[in-house]
Amino acid sequence: MRIYKAKDYKDMSRKAANILSAQIIMKPNAVLGLATGSTPEGLYAQLIDWYQKGDLDFSKVISVNLDEYYGLSPESEQSYRYFMNHHLFDHVNIQTENTHLPNGLELDVKKEVARYTELIRSFDGIDMQLLGIGHNGHVGFNEPDTAFETQIHCVDLTESTIEANKRFFASADEVPKKAYTLGIKSIMQAKKILLVCSGADKADILYRALFGPVTPEVPASILQMHNDLIVVADEAALSKFPEELFD
Ligand code: F6R
Repeated sequence: MRIYKAKDYKDMSRKAANILSAQIIMKPNAVLGLATGSTPEGLYAQLIDWYQKGDLDFSKVISVNLDEYYGLSPESEQSYRYFMNHHLFDHVNIQTENTHLPNGLELDVKKEVARYTELIRSFDGIDMQLLGIGHNGHVGFNEPDTAFETQIHCVDLTESTIEANKRFFASADEVPKKAYTLGIKSIMQAKKILLVCSGADKADILYRALFGPVTPEVPASILQMHNDLIVVADEAALSKFPEELFD
């Protein structure tokens, strides 16, 4: 595991964008596992900036998103497809047909899980998986006590995740109760993982995830076992970590 300490959110976004860009430069047809949420917004904005300056080319990049709400259409402003279009895809030269998310409108779970599993398999896996972390240690929509063996599946969202995500909806009642997500095992199969984290409110969970026991109670703790985990976090999020780690 390599941990890069950033000064603040802006610096974290730039450092993480550098790592993702290096992946694209080294492998122009890289398969990127992408995430939504507030944390990667600055990173995506930085990638757009470098693209506009002519420093990055997404024409061969393939993206596979981590998760999508069950039952939401891609046009819904709260869907993760909408988020990705708005925060990245519409502003760079990635080909729409190369951008993939679970299909929230497919209500046949078995069918959608099989389709998305086969899609990722057909790409020979994910080269770099970008992840954020939830306050309860969730990654993707894998909530505490999800078995580490879980592959792509459809989950019932916990109250705490519905609570955390209601900020994007008119009310908690409108937050979908289910979502498709890559499972812990599918995430661990990515060749590289880039975990981004910002803010004092994430300091405890980040420490537990990276230095606490590896346990399904903290889904992100399994990331300690990945052989190519890169963490980029700001000072506030790393405030519980011993200083000497960063000498
Ligand atoms: C997003 C996702 C979630 C978020 C996590 C952190 O696709 O799967 O696991 O990464 O909830 O969200 P933020 O960055 O909003 O704190």
